[in-house]
Amino acid sequence: MPVVLVVDDSAPNREMIRMYLSTIDVDVQQAGDGVSALEMIEARAPDLVLLDVPVVMITGLSQTTHRVMALEAGADDFMAKPVEGAELIARVRSALRLKELYNTLDSAEHVIFSLATAVEAKDSFTERHTHRVGESARLLGQKLGLSEPTLDTLYRGGIIHDIGKIGVSDSILHKPGPLNAIELPQMQAHVEIGESIVRPLHSTSGLLPIIRHHHERFDGSGYPDRLRAREIPRVARIVSVCDAFDALVNDRPYRSRRSTEEALAVLRAGSGTQWDPETVELLATELPTLHHLGAA
Ligand SMILES: [Fe+2]
Repeated sequence: MPVVLVVDDSAPNREMIRMYLSTIDVDVQQAGDGVSALEMIEARAPDLVLLDVPVVMITGLSQTTHRVMALEAGADDFMAKPVEGAELIARVRSALRLKELYNTLDSAEHVIFSLATAVEAKDSFTERHTHRVGESARLLGQKLGLSEPTLDTLYRGGIIHDIGKIGVSDSILHKPGPLNAIELPQMQAHVEIGESIVRPLHSTSGLLPIIRHHHERFDGSGYPDRLRAREIPRVARIVSVCDAFDALVNDRPYRSRRSTEEALAVLRAGSGTQWDPETVELLATELPTLHHLGAA
């Protein structure tokens, strides 16, 4: 019988998981802390470990397929050996920030953020896309000297901004090529769908401008409200640049990834028309740190 090891410091949580799993043919073992979990793994290697912290995999395997396999197996992040000190620190901070976010959520917020994760999972090409967007947006906000609550808004908004895609059909989300006149409005509706999902929660009201306005364009030709320049909330302008950059440097269904330089050239070409010039240039100065986060 396969062995499933459940690691959680809360006995009621472990018990709940054991009860859920009692309906399938598995031997559920429990550990209340990391030390006893390791002892149990040593004594008898489990087939599966369920634990409540982010998992970052470090391995000598470096091909894209290995990376995808690790992430599909549930790793939150992936680093290839040899690991650089600065990269390790950036990734550990990032994983701990995610854990901290989940620790502070109430149950309604938990549902919202889980939905955002489900959206991400719908499109395997995005991997940890939204999490990296949150990290990069927070970093740029920090460089701009924005307040701690605003940095938190940028981080959460970066993670949740595309939550409305849960209401867009997979055939449109995954279409390898440009969308037609019928599909395009359905795709664009994700900003308003997202807004209506999050609006009932008062605690996340600060995220609404990011969700609604992350596809506005600096020249006023974006959607849904055709806001221009500084009419676009600053947090939305920042997330929009981070979102575009991370999408460019990672594989998408319709094209393979660009180099950091190519991605920056695309952003600069659209600076002042699509994107906020100030944010684009700020991102350019922060490329090494973004690289450590896995965003490039
Ligand atoms: Fe979007």
